[in-house]
Amino acid sequence: MNHRRKGSIGAWLVGTIAAIACAFIAAGWATTSSTAGAQETTAEEGQDELLFDNFYCMGCHLQENMKLTLSDGEVLDLTIDSEAFNSSVHGEFDIPCVLCHTEITPYPHAPITAPDLRTFALERADACRGCHLDKYTEVADNVHGAARDNGHPEAAVCTDCHGTHDIQKTVEHSPEVQQTCRQCHSEVYQLYAESVHGEALVTGNRDVPTCTDCHGVHNLEGPTDSAFHLFSPQLCADCHNDPALMEPYDLSTNVLESYVADFHGSTVILFEKLAPDQETNKAVCIDCHGVHAIKKTDDPEGTVFQANLLQTCQRCHPDATENFSAAWLSHYSPEPGKATLVWLATWAYRILIPVVIGAMVLYVIALTVRKRQAARIAPA
Ligand code: HEC
Ligand code: HEC
Ligand code: HEC
Ligand code: HEC
Ligand code: HEC
Ligand code: HEC
Ligand code: HEC
Ligand code: HEC
Ligand code: HEC
Repeated sequence: MNHRRKGSIGAWLVGTIAAIACAFIAAGWATTSSTAGAQETTAEEGQDELLFDNFYCMGCHLQENMKLTLSDGEVLDLTIDSEAFNSSVHGEFDIPCVLCHTEITPYPHAPITAPDLRTFALERADACRGCHLDKYTEVADNVHGAARDNGHPEAAVCTDCHGTHDIQKTVEHSPEVQQTCRQCHSEVYQLYAESVHGEALVTGNRDVPTCTDCHGVHNLEGPTDSAFHLFSPQLCADCHNDPALMEPYDLSTNVLESYVADFHGSTVILFEKLAPDQETNKAVCIDCHGVHAIKKTDDPEGTVFQANLLQTCQRCHPDATENFSAAWLSHYSPEPGKATLVWLATWAYRILIPVVIGAMVLYVIALTVRKRQAARIAPA
């Protein structure tokens, strides 16, 4: 991180915390009476001081085996690991507990109403909003937010991915991120782990895509969105068209061009331009290669391995026979030895067309000259 960013974070931090703290105090956080006299104000200030003092909170929450059984029988662990908290991003900045726990009053706290642990966590999902409004807004609108609105309370909130009292600095494009997603998407993870991309990632290769490179992080998009499907070739092309990235693997960087030039791709590109919200039935990369289980082309388990290719085409071309898939050029441009006839035909056209048109032009020119000459010679 550069120094300018550090400076701006420092300023932002002081500003934000001061603003939030002032807001609480100004709002008369613990006001119980509308006829507050001078004496009561002093008591309130005392209460505020207590609230913003983490030592006060930890005086109780440091105790071991501090537990509470919720009404459905699940046990809430109330002990806070002070070491973990102090070495977290928030602990390092001495952030007062109550800036996240806006609902808390000095002891005795208001009684807990959540019947189970998940409800307890979801009721506190707004804790991060005050300081990370940008992330909060994105997460509320993404696939997880939508899933929660549609009756999947288990869809991820901030603390599922980041932790709660032990939050650490994050790393972009981290090879660890799929472990976070794995907690809840173990089936997808399994497919990915055995794919050409996942296998490479495990060996420390950072060139391959992780879950979030394709889906995004807080703006997570998903397959129920037809635009995501339609634009997915661009996702693959970001890497597969990059010569520097593909060179060590000796992989073609012609896959997008050849796909676009193809009968499937040309229609998909047209759709992208004209009707990005519409479903398309034409094949995109993932229809042939798979999504999370993409294999090397010479892997016998792969969907584009020569022996399996017909089956892949038959998903959409049920009447296709061996010739159908064998005759297709896949991503290759025709060349001698590979689709020799197509190559010959292409070159025949490339040579014949200029020759024929050239001859025609010559013929027209010759004819014009001849006519002019004839006109000059002929008597008026
Ligand atoms: C005198 C001891 C004591 C102090 C001081 C104390 N707590 Fe608690 N806290 C408890 C106990 C006991 C519970 C269990 C639930 C209950 O009895 O209300 C609890 C529960 C909680 C809970 C979970 C329930 C809820 O309402 O969200 C949170 C969060 C919490 N405390 C945060 C804090 C914070 C923040 C502070 C400092 C401002 C603090 N506590 C100070 C004893 C204390
Ligand atoms: C970065 C925000 C944040 C800070 C700072 C924070 N908490 Fe929490 N805390 C939460 C959230 C959110 C939950 C709800 C449970 C969850 O989502 O994991 C929670 C839950 C709790 C609970 C219930 C038991 C549990 O672990 O779920 C207690 C007790 C608690 N916090 C006490 C504290 C105390 C004491 C401090 C200060 C030393 C503190 N918290 C600082 C966000 C925070
Ligand atoms: C009182 C303000 C405040 C609240 C509330 C708060 N944070 Fe933070 N958060 C900060 C500050 C300050 C930093 C450190 C500066 C930075 O890196 O941006 C930080 C850093 C982070 C980071 C590391 C950022 C990085 O650069 O890798 C994560 C992740 C994070 N917070 C998540 C959360 C989550 C999740 C919650 C809610 C449970 C939360 N924060 C609540 C102020 C807050
Ligand atoms: C599905 C998992 C997931 C959820 C849910 C999630 N995050 Fe993140 N977050 C990540 C990952 C992974 C990164 C690492 C950065 C990257 O890959 O770009 C990150 C990075 C961050 C950062 C630091 C990077 C930056 O751009 O400043 C902050 C701050 C943060 N998250 C806060 C939050 C808050 C607040 C919420 C809830 C409103 C939240 N996150 C919800 C996975 C998640
Ligand atoms: C705490 C659990 C949890 C975590 C962690 C989590 N997810 Fe999810 N995710 C869900 C649930 C629940 C749904 C909605 C139900 C479903 O479609 O599976 C969902 C839905 C999705 C969808 C949309 C699926 C669809 O069919 O519409 C995508 C994409 C997704 N998650 C990606 C991710 C990625 C990437 C990560 C890691 C950065 C991640 N999730 C982390 C629980 C989680
Ligand atoms: C190379 C890009 C890529 C990577 C890497 C990737 N995904 Fe996906 N994912 C997609 C695409 C594209 C779809 C949509 C498939 C479709 O249209 O049918 C999808 C679909 C999904 C879905 C919903 C459908 C289903 O199969 O359940 C979930 C959940 C999901 N991904 C999670 C993950 C997780 C978790 C990881 C990491 C382990 C991950 N993805 C890695 C591109 C990717
Ligand atoms: C972040 C960059 C990146 C993205 C995004 C990406 N790939 Fe890859 N892909 C790679 C790298 C690097 C390799 C080589 C890995 C190796 O061989 O170890 C690879 C290998 C492959 C292979 C195996 C080729 C062979 O025969 O060896 C196929 C097929 C493939 N990717 C298809 C796709 C498809 C389809 C998508 C989109 C859904 C996609 N990739 C997205 C980087 C990427
Ligand atoms: C209609 C099916 C189909 C579509 C659509 C398709 N591919 Fe392929 N792809 C194949 C086949 C078949 C092969 C294997 C060619 C061979 O080895 O003979 C292949 C090979 C590859 C390879 C390996 C290239 C090499 O140098 O070995 C990559 C990488 C690849 N495709 C990526 C993509 C990407 C990215 C897209 C989308 C832009 C895409 N494919 C669209 C069928 C398809
Ligand atoms: C996701 C579905 C899907 C997959 C998989 C798929 N195609 Fe297609 N393909 C289509 C659609 C839709 C058309 C357009 C048909 C039309 O317009 O009549 C098409 C058109 C074609 C055409 C043009 C001639 C025709 O029949 O209209 C050829 C050739 C073709 N595909 C070959 C293949 C081959 C070879 C494979 C396997 C490697 C394959 N396709 C896999 C959906 C698919």
